[in-house]
Amino acid sequence: MIADFVLNNAKAYLKQGIVDCSIAVEDGKIFKIGKETHMSKAEEKTDLHNLLVLPGVIDSHVHLRDEEKAYKETFLTGTAAAAAGGVTTVLDMPNNTPVTMSAQTLRNRLQLAKRLVLVNVGFYSEFPKNLNEPKEIVAEGAVGFKLFMAEQVGGLNIDDDEALKEAFKKTAELNVPVAVHAEDHRLLKKAIEKLKLAKRHDLTAFLKAHNENVEYAAVKRLLDINAQVGNHLHFCHLSTEKGLDAVAEAKKADQKVTCEVTPHHLLLTKEAYESLGVKAVTMPPLRSRENVEALWRGVTEETVDLIGSDHAPHTLEEKDANSIWDVKVGVPGLETTLPLMLTMVHKKRLSLDRAVQLLTEKPAEIFNLNDRGCLEQGKNADFVVVDFNQRFKIDASKFQSKAKFSPFNGWEAQGKPVKTFVNGQLVMDEQRIVAKPGSGSVVRRAQT
Ligand code: DOR
Ligand code: ZN
Ligand code: ZN
Repeated sequence: MIADFVLNNAKAYLKQGIVDCSIAVEDGKIFKIGKETHMSKAEEKTDLHNLLVLPGVIDSHVHLRDEEKAYKETFLTGTAAAAAGGVTTVLDMPNNTPVTMSAQTLRNRLQLAKRLVLVNVGFYSEFPKNLNEPKEIVAEGAVGFKLFMAEQVGGLNIDDDEALKEAFKKTAELNVPVAVHAEDHRLLKKAIEKLKLAKRHDLTAFLKAHNENVEYAAVKRLLDINAQVGNHLHFCHLSTEKGLDAVAEAKKADQKVTCEVTPHHLLLTKEAYESLGVKAVTMPPLRSRENVEALWRGVTEETVDLIGSDHAPHTLEEKDANSIWDVKVGVPGLETTLPLMLTMVHKKRLSLDRAVQLLTEKPAEIFNLNDRGCLEQGKNADFVVVDFNQRFKIDASKFQSKAKFSPFNGWEAQGKPVKTFVNGQLVMDEQRIVAKPGSGSVVRRAQT
């Protein structure tokens, strides 16, 4: 058997630890991991000079946009950003134009993506109004449903507990997770109306509206509804101690619940707004030092299941609106997540084992992506070669993403992705994109 290629002199992150080895790749899969002398013949060999090879990052929270929001990001630019950041699989959020919330809108999105993506992409759907449709949507390939509780986006009435319960019954039956943006719409709406009446259009008003209780109220409400149903709830971007505690408690009570934190909520406090201003505004917003410390405890004590970037590209003009209520919230994150987390490993904030769990193993497990998430024979050949000790400055002007800004711009990072392989193909080499659009593939959730 002749492999497609062999990578020699790798320090590969395997189940048993970091091992000096060679990796043979055949037909998009890891064919063999072992000593160079035991490797199969190969058409091509690459010497990795003892660089670290990690399983490719699986980012389960990405807004790739495209279609009618292509001016912010396209499948091509978004997945180029992923490849540059060592991310080999992304899960795309449905708040698009048109909103992904039917078999047809998903099919259109899949078809466009297929021709353009550089990494592997799976898709969430919003809930449709008609709860007979989720079955078709899953059959079409959705990896899960997204429930945006801050504002009405999909077809499901977010103010109606009974409707939510019926929807969760459906997803439990279909065995797909529901990823939630947990901010309570009713509390938010009331607060925003009041602030607008008082002619408040500033950042402080935004923080007041999106306060900690708004997150907690949504988390608690959904956990209570879900306790009667047993669906898998996955809380996106938790930002508060209270929210995380509620999730920890539900876990103890054996609810099927998981959660995510983002690098921006882990690495920045609300004080960062003083220098970064409105450009750094996200939903949920940055929090106090106490909350940030609670998130880190969650990371080390394993209440937090995974790290997702919430890559949310916008144009700079959209970030620059006169009123805070018109500012598009969100920051890009695909190109900074892995380097920042590796930097935290150097700083001993978390171990490399924990970083790999949060970035690759757990997302694979939670979203049932059984063929990836670790370096093992037979798995998808999705990996990232990192120069673990290399220090570099984050420079948002060089991003592959259309959104060329970042709250981390100018930060010194340590641990640089230097090559990204997707389905056994080199996609990024020394921060250059070297593969053709369409070399990534569409990911469907494996059914259990
Ligand atoms: O900051 C955010 N940006 N939070 C969200 O929930 C939406 C996202 C976006 O789509 O821009
Ligand atoms: Zn969100
Ligand atoms: Zn998001």
